[in-house]
Amino acid sequence: MSRLLLLFFFYLILSGQTNYKNSEKFYKAQPNTEGQLIYEEMGCVMCHGHQGMGDGFLSAGLNPKPRDFTSYEEMKLVPYQSMYSAIKHGIPYTSMPAFQLTEKQIDDVISYVKSFLTENHITMTTCANSPRVVSLENIDIEGPFKIEIDKMNYVETSINGKQLTITPKLVSLLKAYKKDRKSMLRVHINLIKEENNKKDYLAIIAMRLGNCLK
Ligand code: HEC
Repeated sequence: MSRLLLLFFFYLILSGQTNYKNSEKFYKAQPNTEGQLIYEEMGCVMCHGHQGMGDGFLSAGLNPKPRDFTSYEEMKLVPYQSMYSAIKHGIPYTSMPAFQLTEKQIDDVISYVKSFLTENHITMTTCANSPRVVSLENIDIEGPFKIEIDKMNYVETSINGKQLTITPKLVSLLKAYKKDRKSMLRVHINLIKEENNKKDYLAIIAMRLGNCLK
């Protein structure tokens, strides 16, 4: 490896370290995300309701009725891809219509839909070489809790006191960008508590991992 290349990698690691200090915080109140705007302005509320409980004013006459977005038991049956396809193409034989939204808008509104499971939801963007720190100050992490990652090969996490560090796995990400021909990949990191077989979402972090090395 040439010395220049080595220096370059060293620089990447260092620049990652600088970002490392910026820590992200959960707000107590639900942030007014882009997803919320879409949810409210595209009429999702009419059926799915303001709190996502499936109790919008149109829902009484629907069969099947929209499910309860606040219930983990219901939502664990609905993976990201089904939500994506439901919004993009509608669901046949139900009143769920198709929406003309961009990929990003669909992702935002799905994040918002998922946030009905918990108040604590943030979306953040980072580079494949930059770890991010999230402060868990406002999260109730007393007692045992678990970290669930939907794409295990994209990131790893570690907890230090009330700080959660999310470190992108650079090598497998570089492979995934190439394989999927994408310059941005998504991962969801959920903090959950399990009691009597019931899962409670403490926090959901939706992370976009950009390929900034190109
Ligand atoms: C006219 C009523 C109506 C509107 C408007 C509507 N939905 Fe739906 N939606 C439904 C019904 C009914 C279902 C299917 C329920 C089922 O089978 O679980 C559904 C299903 C879904 C699902 C898949 C989850 C599942 O139950 O399989 C998602 C995600 C969703 N809707 C999001 C949205 C979003 C986001 C919007 C607005 C951009 C929206 N919906 C607008 C009625 C509606």
